[in-house]
Amino acid sequence: MQSTRNKLIDLLANNQDKYISGQHLSEELNISRSAIWKHMKELEKDGYEIEARQRRGYRIISFPNKLSENTLKWGLETDWLGNTIIHKTSTTSTQHIAHHLAREGAKHGTIVIADEQTGGKGRMNRPWHSSKNQGIWTSLILRPEISPHQAPQLTLLTATVLADVIYKETNIRPYIKWPNDILIENKKLSGILTEMQAEQDRIQYIIIGIGMNVNQTIHELPDDLSEKATSLRIETGHQLDMIKLVQAILEQFERTYETYLNEGFKSIKTKWESYGFKIGERINVKTMNQQWEATFSGIAPDGGLLVENKHNGKVEKLYSAEIDWFRE
Ligand code: BTN
Repeated sequence: MQSTRNKLIDLLANNQDKYISGQHLSEELNISRSAIWKHMKELEKDGYEIEARQRRGYRIISFPNKLSENTLKWGLETDWLGNTIIHKTSTTSTQHIAHHLAREGAKHGTIVIADEQTGGKGRMNRPWHSSKNQGIWTSLILRPEISPHQAPQLTLLTATVLADVIYKETNIRPYIKWPNDILIENKKLSGILTEMQAEQDRIQYIIIGIGMNVNQTIHELPDDLSEKATSLRIETGHQLDMIKLVQAILEQFERTYETYLNEGFKSIKTKWESYGFKIGERINVKTMNQQWEATFSGIAPDGGLLVENKHNGKVEKLYSAEIDWFRE
């Protein structure tokens, strides 16, 4: 159920260029005019700029520059992704909340986003540093009608979405390191953690966790990361508008996802390879129990990693591996 406050913000946001009378608001929300006035004062305290004119009513001038359900929804041009947004100022991990919500039946396209995570999770059980208001820490709940073995394609798809948005918003060309790290100048900017609940041949839900370093300065990255990680602020030299960035990610994700469902993985493969890190070059491949030198040939039509073994020239397809650049 939407709170009165959210309904009020919706009414103001949907009538951005008009004044809405106190009488009209009070009828719509079923509360007194003085209660409306109190709500407006509360909104102003939270950074909303609202103009109140005698005889004309109220008009919203600007939203605060802070992540919230309302600020993210205002101007978001998606049909289903982000229709429900759960925003937390602080949480252990948005993945935990998303799993809980998905188990309780949350709709396809629900997103969870936090200003800060105190127990952010990376791949391979690594911790993911998620400092307050400095990055995008979000989990998308999807219920795709694809078979479980195709699920990794959604991770590759997400990587192309992030790369497209970064390129468009900053003009800096990012690279995708297989399967899904986003790098700028060999340093990690963003990572994706995909988790799935499935039966033998049916996906119940997929959670796509996205972490992106946005507004950290080099000194604000933890010491152990400053050599290998970066942020958009470090790379561009200026702060970025996180609301705009999240909206751009959601919009691009929805478009790309629909193309994928209609046309299959082909378009994603081409896009992924256009950002692929070290394609055609020598790399080190590491699996659970082996490590070897190979040439990175690209990705297979189903998303697998294609590597050509340096010693016998054979091309192998791998689904679970890490790659690293070749150091002489
Ligand atoms: C990686 O290891 O590269 C994946 C990092 C994924 C981090 C994101 S931040 C939002 C979501 N919540 C988490 O705890 N992890 C993912």
